[in-house]
Amino acid sequence: MASLKEKLIGHLATTQPSQSHNKITIVGVGAVGMACAISILLKDLADEVALVDVMEDKLKGEMMDLQHGSLFLRTHKIVSGKDYSVSAGSKLVVVTAGARQQEGESRLNLVQRNVNIFKHIIPDIVKNSPDCIILVVSNPVDILTYVAWKLSGLPMHRVIGSGCNLDSARFRYLMGERLGIHSSSCHGWVIGEHGDSSVPVWSGMNVAGVNLKELHPELGTDKDKENWKKVHRDVVDSAYEVIKLKGYTSWAIGMSVADMVGTIMKNLNKVHPVSTMVKDLHGIKNEVFLSLPCILGNHGISNIVKMVLKPDEEAQLQKSATTLWDIQKDLKF
Ligand SMILES: NC(=O)c1ccc[n+]([C@@H]2O[C@H](COP(=O)([O-])OP(=O)(O)OC[C@H]3O[C@@H](n4cnc5c(N)ncnc54)[C@H](O)[C@@H]3O)[C@@H](O)[C@H]2O)c1
Repeated sequence: MASLKEKLIGHLATTQPSQSHNKITIVGVGAVGMACAISILLKDLADEVALVDVMEDKLKGEMMDLQHGSLFLRTHKIVSGKDYSVSAGSKLVVVTAGARQQEGESRLNLVQRNVNIFKHIIPDIVKNSPDCIILVVSNPVDILTYVAWKLSGLPMHRVIGSGCNLDSARFRYLMGERLGIHSSSCHGWVIGEHGDSSVPVWSGMNVAGVNLKELHPELGTDKDKENWKKVHRDVVDSAYEVIKLKGYTSWAIGMSVADMVGTIMKNLNKVHPVSTMVKDLHGIKNEVFLSLPCILGNHGISNIVKMVLKPDEEAQLQKSATTLWDIQKDLKF
């Protein structure tokens, strides 16, 4: 007796199991992982999304909740599992797993807890998707990107930290609020450590090519009556403030990750401030990961833009590098 399906559908070809060509895995289905997942899905960046976490019920619940939105999406396969075989064949793996900051806690404080988690995660990712690009989001993101690079054995251009992509977006938003101009037309770069020692590049801030430092030489200095330095201080404080108010940050990081993922999956060669190995750049001597403007595409980071920095900006970048190295050199992994 033919089933309803057999009565409905006539076969033209023998069905082959369909292969995904643009698979993205997200490891960690907490607040950040799910904000990344929904942002990636709503931008149609993958033909398959896999979710991995250690909390089985939460994982299944999140997967089902997304699957129930399939009618409104154009990603035909959403899967999940505790076992990394579910991630096999991914082009890109976004890592958001790990502990997050408690109220008032710095990102650097999280380090050894999250290194221990990475020791379990990274080898399994690479075993199942040896050709993937890994995008690290978990904090402290610069150190964990270094750890992921070491643990993975992947070439450095395929291990990227989300770094200052979010800090720069926050900076441009706040700059836009002051000027009454949409942030996409406000150009400003925050580089270095994602966090407390990030470096605002005052010398390059511009709107429509008009350099703000030339118009207002005090920009970013203590002498500035308009106190533009506060814009950067607010960027640094913003995660602490949002965590104090709602317990965690999620939406902006999710959207910023989806923006980078779009650049990678669609091979756009757009420039993003992301965390990469900066040894021998800007006078940095140690093997640390910090954000610099990087050209992203479907091989990962193809090139780094050589920023023309002022001596004080370069000195701040070197200080960031020393802060990270002092923590990194004693890590056990
Ligand atoms: N880079 C950035 O700009 C940025 C911004 C916001 C948050 N973060 C960081 O992202 C991370 C996640 O934050 P969150 O708010 O989603 O935290 P969360 O606590 O909501 O979620 C973390 C998830 O990781 C999972 N996890 C823990 N150990 C795991 C393991 N071994 N394997 C797989 N999954 C595991 C947990 O079960 C949980 O679901 C934190 O480290 C946070 O600091 C980074």
